[in-house]
Amino acid sequence: MKKILMINGPNLNLLGSREPDVYGMDDLKSIENRLTKKAADLNFELGCFQTNAEHEMIEKIHDAKKNNVCFILINPGAFTHTSISVRDALLSVSIPFYEIHLSNTFSREEFRHKSYFSDIASGCIIGLGSHGYELGLIAAIKKIQPS
Ligand code: DQA
Repeated sequence: MKKILMINGPNLNLLGSREPDVYGMDDLKSIENRLTKKAADLNFELGCFQTNAEHEMIEKIHDAKKNNVCFILINPGAFTHTSISVRDALLSVSIPFYEIHLSNTFSREEFRHKSYFSDIASGCIIGLGSHGYELGLIAAIKKIQPS
C-alpha cells in the first residue's frame, strides 16, 4: 500500500479550542481519523504526525524517505513563516508535498504572508478550513495515481 504522511506543526494539537473563529471547531484527532479512513477506502496508508518541535518535524521528514512515503501533506503552522530548516528537509528528501493552511494567511497579519514552502510545494490549499486537508488528500492521490 502506498504511503502518504500528514504533518501538522506547532499549536495545531489545540485545534477545536484554539481561536475557533480563525481555525474552526474541528479537532485534530477527528481530522486525522476522517482522513485515515478516506485514505484506507482508496487503498492508501495515511500516517499522521503533529509536533510542536522543529527538530521533530525535520526528523519525521527524514524518516519519511526511509519509510517510502510517496507524498506529504503539511501544515507547518508558524514554522511556515520562519523555518528554512524545515524547507531544507523537504528539499533534501525530494518527496512532493502540498502546503495546507486552515486560515487565509494572506488576509491576516503581514508576517503570515511570507511562506518558506509555497515556492517548492506541488500545490497550496489556503483558507478552506479543515476541509482543505481532505481536498489535499484527494488531490495527492490523484497525482500519485492519475486515472
Ligand atoms: C496556520 C497559519 C499560520 O500562520 C499559523 O501560525 C498557524 C496555522 C493555518 O493553518 O492557518 O499555526 O498554518
